[in-house]
Amino acid sequence: MTTSTGSPASFHLVFLSEGADLPAGAEVAADDFTGKADSSLVLYPADGPKRLVLLGLGASPDVETLRKQAGVAARLAAGKKATTVSVQWPDLDLADADVAEAIAEGLVLGGYRFDRYRTTQEEPPAIIEALVWVGAPDGTVEASEQGRILGEATSFARDLVNTSPGDQSATDLAMAAKRSADAHGYEAQVWSMGEIIQEGMGGLLAVNRGSEEPPTFTRLEWKPADAVNEQPIVLVGKGIVFDTGGLSLKPSSGMEKMKGDMGGAAAVIGGIEAVARLKLPVWVIALVPSTDNRPGKNAYVPGEVITMHSGATVEVLNTDAEGRMILADALSFAKRFEPELVIDFATLTGAQVIALGPLAAAIMTNEDDGAEARTQRVIDAGQRSGDRVWPLPMFAGYKKLLESDVADLKNVGGRAAGTITAGKFLEHFTDYPWVHVDIAGPSFANATEGYATKGGTGFGVRLIARMIQDRALKK
Ligand code: BES
Ligand code: ZN
Ligand code: ZN
Repeated sequence: MTTSTGSPASFHLVFLSEGADLPAGAEVAADDFTGKADSSLVLYPADGPKRLVLLGLGASPDVETLRKQAGVAARLAAGKKATTVSVQWPDLDLADADVAEAIAEGLVLGGYRFDRYRTTQEEPPAIIEALVWVGAPDGTVEASEQGRILGEATSFARDLVNTSPGDQSATDLAMAAKRSADAHGYEAQVWSMGEIIQEGMGGLLAVNRGSEEPPTFTRLEWKPADAVNEQPIVLVGKGIVFDTGGLSLKPSSGMEKMKGDMGGAAAVIGGIEAVARLKLPVWVIALVPSTDNRPGKNAYVPGEVITMHSGATVEVLNTDAEGRMILADALSFAKRFEPELVIDFATLTGAQVIALGPLAAAIMTNEDDGAEARTQRVIDAGQRSGDRVWPLPMFAGYKKLLESDVADLKNVGGRAAGTITAGKFLEHFTDYPWVHVDIAGPSFANATEGYATKGGTGFGVRLIARMIQDRALKK
């Protein structure tokens, strides 16, 4: 999508904050419109736009309302086969740059489609190729370019989640990350079986034992010369390319959604891509441990004790609690970078879906003096980015639920507080400021609405970009 300033195109969007009771996407043909308009709306000449779409924003719209309505508009445009869309600058009680960014982002995300496997084109894909701003203040093109990049990096993460699990082995996922790194000027290093054995990643190797495919451990790095931080921010993403549950097999109903169990990996790969494309002056590393989790003749079994990368021992009581096994190794590996902060993203627990549903991810952090401020920073970044999060407690008592009869800890804590005990398990492998983001619910949408499209949502990409932007400004 290219962005410019100019005059109204044949598909023209008018966002109306006064029109509180105007339905989203009310359409008015230009002829009708010129006659009927009685408000402060701009009147268009006869040779003006063919189609005006009025988008009600309600009384005091925020950036999320703008993104949603832009998302609705993108699908209306696609339905009308419009490839150039113009937007009348809405004069709102918001910063100009935020308005421009939100509308561009919403247009890209709402117009997202995943057509890779369609062999018949019933409706030819209409993608918005050009966005033209009308009556916009200076700086609008630059700000909307930011929104476009965030939208595109999020779309890339959606593609990774939506890809058929038959086409996405751990190696395929790593190669997709490598292609992004090559295209956008950051570094990628992919380890396969040999290096993973050498590094002693016992958790990742245990989960991989049921698989026909080798595991991968991918390290991505953006280290610009003007970085403001001397210690890196490390992102970790759960890259289970398909989770059958292993020998603790999942029920078949709904199992297809487990192709999205690499949603955390998609978030950090899309996240570092966004950071690199925005050229943010922050040193960022992303780590992606990856494998599928399957029953197989050599699959790990309940009762087994696994020696992890950190040297800690884990009694496996459920092979479906595999995400924490591979993340624990990545978290312990991250210690060597002496990071200023580690943030992991994982579709980790069904309990997170029960607690918060699709609207927010659950965040947990280690309990040190910085915990409260750190939590608040993530909540704020979540609110502004649209990837919303909410905290859960990490009281010491929850760790007791992970005590094992035979090993240092067991990999499940029982039904009670399932999201928190998973967080407590991960905390055992950290010794630095750390935030855990359980995205099981928000990473996958069951319906298209606003700028979210059914399937992978790319949740986490915009949160990462916003947090790194804040770090660049030392907020
Ligand atoms: N990938 C699942 C969690 C999940 C569930 C993600 C639903 C998205 C939607 C994870 O590996 C898992 O199976 N967790 C188990 C843990 C339990 C065995 C302690 C769960 O939540 O049931
Ligand atoms: Zn599982
Ligand atoms: Zn899983």
